[in-house]
Amino acid sequence: MSRMRFWHPVLCTRDLPRERPVAVRVAGRDLAVFRARDGKLGALEDRCVHRRLKLSIGKVVDNKLRCAYHGWSFTTEGAGESPGTPKLHACAASYDCAEAYGAIWVRERGGRQPLPELHRGFEQWTFAGCVINAIKAPLELLLDNFAEIEHTVAVHPQFGLEPDRASETVVKLETTAKSFTARCHGPSKPPPLVTKLLAWTWAGDHFHSDFTFHFDPPRSAVTHYWTQPRTGRERMAKYFLYHYFVPKDERESMVVTFGYLRSRWPGFDWVARRMGWFVRAKIKETIDEDAWLLENMADYDTGIEGMKLSRFDKVLGITRERLRKVYDGKLQA
Ligand code: FES
Ligand SMILES: [Fe+2]
Repeated sequence: MSRMRFWHPVLCTRDLPRERPVAVRVAGRDLAVFRARDGKLGALEDRCVHRRLKLSIGKVVDNKLRCAYHGWSFTTEGAGESPGTPKLHACAASYDCAEAYGAIWVRERGGRQPLPELHRGFEQWTFAGCVINAIKAPLELLLDNFAEIEHTVAVHPQFGLEPDRASETVVKLETTAKSFTARCHGPSKPPPLVTKLLAWTWAGDHFHSDFTFHFDPPRSAVTHYWTQPRTGRERMAKYFLYHYFVPKDERESMVVTFGYLRSRWPGFDWVARRMGWFVRAKIKETIDEDAWLLENMADYDTGIEGMKLSRFDKVLGITRERLRKVYDGKLQA
């Protein structure tokens, strides 16, 4: 089954200019995404049906995307016309395209999945917007990275597990036929000043990472927070991230993140609403630390045979099985 039957976020709304299309690659397909003058969004196969120029180097003229080669132009539905041969019937393959939560989403025509309701249950949180990180690694290796917290021992200087006490980390894993949830916590590495002040967390606190993965399409919902280890009381602030793991093709992927914050400090919402840019910059910087790792794998084999796996790595087999079963729709193993 086509992976494109699911809605995938592919672009931040703020990165789609008014007059130009943007090329995106998702699940092995090249698309030209554009916004017509009337505000409607279009996602067309990025190949002109005339002589195969990329439509993404064309231009938006009125409500159509005009090819840069001979000026054939296409509506958001893909209906095309040629100025030189007006009677010619031309049709570009088109995709469903929608805007929500600061992102542009695409899926193939005729898909039945509704757009996700990301804000549901987070009405009391401050939404910081959408961030995209490019990853030079296949989807499986990207999921491996986001499905465990052992790597926070060595990566992410600003949060995660204290290296000297990482053996105290507790990992609880629950699985369903289509998803899994991990609840992890362990002694936190010393937080930077901004985290200390925002969350009122201190060296010796426990860092928590609770996350649930789904595969229709691949994504995780993760909450990070800190607790006082003696009382178990949560510190002042926490944050929540939806990560969508979007394959570009067999070799490259991207992480599309939607961030939310919450704090018990009075007046925090007012500040947080004005600091969205700062939160987005921090998310980008942090995920770029993962991207750097994934650029430096010794190889890009997506199999797990021959690896020496630790207690944090039980999820590796699960992600591969769910990808196949749920994302690729192959119900039999
Ligand atoms: S290649 Fe697009 S108009 Fe000719
Ligand atoms: Fe990470």
